[in-house]
Order: sequence, then C-alpha cells, then structure tokens
Amino acid sequence: MKKHPHSDVVTSYETYRNRVARETIPCYEPSIGKEELRLVTDVIKRNWLSENKYTREFENRLAKICERKYSVAFANATAALISGVKALGIKEGDEIIVPSFSHSADPNSISNSGAIPVFVDVDSATMCLTKQTIKKAITKKTKAILYVCAYGNVSDLDAMASYAKSQKIFLINDCAPALFGSYKNRPIASYGDFSVLSFFADKTITTGEGGMLLSNNIALINKVNMYKHDGRRERGVDVIEYKGYNFRITELQAAVGVAQLKKAAYFVKRKKEILRSYSKKLSGINSVRLFTFNSDGAIVPHRVVIFVPSAKHLIAYLASLGIGVRNMFMPMHSMPAYDTKGDFPNTQEIFKTGVCLPSAPSLTDKNIEFICQSIKKFYA
Ligand SMILES: Cc1ncc(COP(=O)(O)O)c(C=O)c1O
Repeated sequence: MKKHPHSDVVTSYETYRNRVARETIPCYEPSIGKEELRLVTDVIKRNWLSENKYTREFENRLAKICERKYSVAFANATAALISGVKALGIKEGDEIIVPSFSHSADPNSISNSGAIPVFVDVDSATMCLTKQTIKKAITKKTKAILYVCAYGNVSDLDAMASYAKSQKIFLINDCAPALFGSYKNRPIASYGDFSVLSFFADKTITTGEGGMLLSNNIALINKVNMYKHDGRRERGVDVIEYKGYNFRITELQAAVGVAQLKKAAYFVKRKKEILRSYSKKLSGINSVRLFTFNSDGAIVPHRVVIFVPSAKHLIAYLASLGIGVRNMFMPMHSMPAYDTKGDFPNTQEIFKTGVCLPSAPSLTDKNIEFICQSIKKFYA
C-alpha cells in the first residue's frame, strides 16, 4: 500500500481516543441536558423510534430558520449530499468542482454518485472558493460547483450563485457547520440549488449524528426523499423506483435537535464571545495570526482558527498540556483515495499552518486565558 502523504499525523483510533481522554480542555463538547432528556423520554414513552412528529418539527423549524421552502432530515450531512447530488441527475462521467480544502464528505459524495470531483484551490483569505479559483477548472462536463463553507465561513457566495447560474450549472452549498450564519442579510443555508447542514457532536446544535438538506425546488426534494427512503416514494410504499438508500434519522435524534434549538441563541452568542476573547488575549503574539471571518456577513464561527509557523509543532506542545487542539482539513486531492496531481498552494499552506483551538460554548474564560498563555510561552 502506498505511504499516506500525511502519515505523520495519522494515528490509530485507540491512540486518538487516549489522546482525547487526556484532554482537560476539550476541543469541543456538546451541551446537552434536561430538555434533551425530557424530549427523548417522550419519544421512548411513545414507543415509535423511527421518524415521527419531532423529525417533522425539526425539519419545519430548520426550513424557517434557513428561509427555505423545504427541508429533509438525514442520518448525516454526507447522506444528504449523496442524495442531493443523485437527485440533481448527475451521472457517471459528469464533473463537479470541489475545493481540495474540504471535508471528506465532499469528494466522497461526488465519487459515490459516479461523478468526478475536480479539485481546485481555495482563497487564502476566506478558505473558500471564489469565481477566480474555479474558472479555470470549468469544462463542458462540469455539472455543478460544490461550495464548502469552511469552518462556517464564506467568500463571495452571492457572486458564486450568479456565476453558476450564468454557466447553467448547479450550485451545491455544503454549509454543514454554518447554521445560523448569514451573508449579505440572507441565511448562508438559503444559497444554492440545495444546501446541507450537519448536526454532528461538534456543530452549533447537535443530534449526535444528523443532517438536513434544504431547497426551494419541490421536484428536487421529492427525488431526494426517494433516495433517502430506499428509492420509494414514501415509507409504506413498496415499489422501488430508484436504487436508493436508507439515510433516515431516528426520532430520538430529532427530539434532541428540537431541544437544542431552544438553546441555539445562547450557543451562537457564546461562540462569538469566545472568538472575541481569544482575539484580545492573542493579540501581540507575533507568530500568531487569528483567522478573520468574512465581515460581509454575520458568521457564526465553527471553530477558532489561528495560523502559526508550524501547526504540527504547536499542536504537539498544546496537546502535551491537555489542550484539545486539532488540525485543519487535510488537502483532499492528496488523499490516497484521490491522489490527484496539481497545484493547491493555499490549501497546503492552510493545512501546514492552521490550528483549531478549543471553542465549545462551555469553555471558560479561565481556560481561554490558560490556552493563550501557553501559546505565548511556546513562542517566547
Ligand atoms: C464542511 C463539512 N461538510 C461535511 C461534513 C460532514 O458532516 P457529517 O459528519 O454530518 O456527514 C462536515 C463535518 O464536519 C463539514 O465540516
């Protein structure tokens, strides 16, 4: 087997678990409690664990928040992406432009739909695609752009939408970590032919695992629903019209999601406060640059990100102190599954120099102070 290009940072799951167990300040932790327990208990008492009223409520509330007509809950954002790409009618040999600086869900959902992911670099200021970064990758086979809201941020998302329209190609908006963020007075999730959200444990609201696809296009939504429900029109119908999947969420998860929505305003406020607190405490350290989110929007930072001379060295030091720090997305084009040649300087630089700092709403000011003092000491 070929040596992995980033094998120095790849560890076994057990090593990872041991490392996380030693973290006295977690990188992220969900805030779940009494309200989640109350609604999950209600689901158990009702004795119907697959999709039911909480799933429909969760979908409806998300559609409203994101200013979309329709929404479909999923087992995770990856499943939502796969179903959405299939429902667009994208087929074998079609090309979809995707940033190399992305989650594995992005190229994987393209490939698993039979299409070809065409990797491009991102803009270093926003960590996202821009019109300029994708223009040279467009060919006659391009059917869509898979835009990724990296760490909750966006670039010129409105220009991207107009550009996709002018080229008669689809804009898929992977805003998995960007719920509650807005750009130019519109929810980020309202952009694109469809958008997807993730509710994994480190997202602004969580259902443990979970996802949502949102769109204004009813024909697309009907197809998405069929891919989600095994290829049939709805549950209870046994005729399989598409080669579909079981990508359903459970009612237990949806109940957690509904409970989380009650606390969402607090989570958003804390995330912004935490970023401001880091910004103050890290200023004046020459080797550290705090990533700034797009000021044309009200972005909700998914993570606090800093850039330093060597991410690897700072991460090793902070991890030895029990601080839960993480790498940025690894360049997808160089993963063994894709192994694509090309020039992706910004993607590579972000990976080499970017560090995600702890940023859970439960993070205390005392802990932020300790993390910043530790970084200061490392560069003294
Ligand atoms: C940008 C982006 N896309 C997709 C995903 C995948 O989401 P899920 O784990 O719900 O499939 C994530 C998860 O962190 C993400 O950050």
